[in-house]
Amino acid sequence: MTFQKESVFNTAKTWIKDIGQVIRTEIDQPRQIDTKTHPNDLVTEMDKKVEQFFAEKIRTEYPDHQILSEEGFGDDVKALSGTTWIIDPIDGTMNFIHQKRHFAISVAVFHDHIGEIGFVYDVMGDVLYAAKNDEGAYKNDERLQSLDEKKNLTESIYLFNTLWTTENNIVDDKKIRELVKTVRGVRTYGSAALEFCYLAEGIADGYVSFTLHPWDFAAGAVILKEVGGVIKHANGRDLTFLTQEPLVAGHKDVVDRTLTHYIELK
Ligand code: IPD
Ligand code: CA
Ligand code: CA
Ligand code: CA
Repeated sequence: MTFQKESVFNTAKTWIKDIGQVIRTEIDQPRQIDTKTHPNDLVTEMDKKVEQFFAEKIRTEYPDHQILSEEGFGDDVKALSGTTWIIDPIDGTMNFIHQKRHFAISVAVFHDHIGEIGFVYDVMGDVLYAAKNDEGAYKNDERLQSLDEKKNLTESIYLFNTLWTTENNIVDDKKIRELVKTVRGVRTYGSAALEFCYLAEGIADGYVSFTLHPWDFAAGAVILKEVGGVIKHANGRDLTFLTQEPLVAGHKDVVDRTLTHYIELK
């Protein structure tokens, strides 16, 4: 089946804006908060409601599309052939609960293995990052510029969860502390999807995480690519976008240097 990129883009954008408005209206309502894999792995009734909203819309409008999503309303996606929506209904659930801001809706659409559309919507800020493959990335109506030609790690702002500097069984934390000492500064915003957009804006230069899922990074990857940024598996290969993957993202110089000097998977 042919992929109607323009029409899918416009439809997805309308859905995102509509459900974003619902979240803003209901932001101060009491939350039903549950935990998933551990006490700090949170989910609310709103995460489920937003994902269900997208699942119902997609199944009605595009019954042959697949859905890969976080909260259980999607499909068991085995391959990115055909058209696949990769959705995080709320990225930054902890921010959503505790801070009532700084969380995002993340929606990517892949067609035959290619990331064709990416949206990351900062709901409370009403800022929509959007990209189409080979057609540029936008922050609301403003086109994002290509990243600088060169970038030294020593002049870079790095983004990551500071937990990675503590002992863990995934990556050598000593090397991550060396990375912290090498770069100009480190920031943690609590929404991976928004952090990819900050890389695309060029207001930060590198990002590492070792536990993200496709719904955390798929839309960000589409956006980042449009400004010349890169996203790589921590082993230096391409991501599959099908499973949980350790990754490094950002300016190509920063990603290269990080992969060669600072990442050692256990
Ligand atoms: C989380 C956020 C956070 C990242 C976590 C993710 P969620 O997503 O992106 O920034 O550090 O690894 O799980 O659970 O709020 O959708
Ligand atoms: Ca979650
Ligand atoms: Ca997420
Ligand atoms: Ca989420």
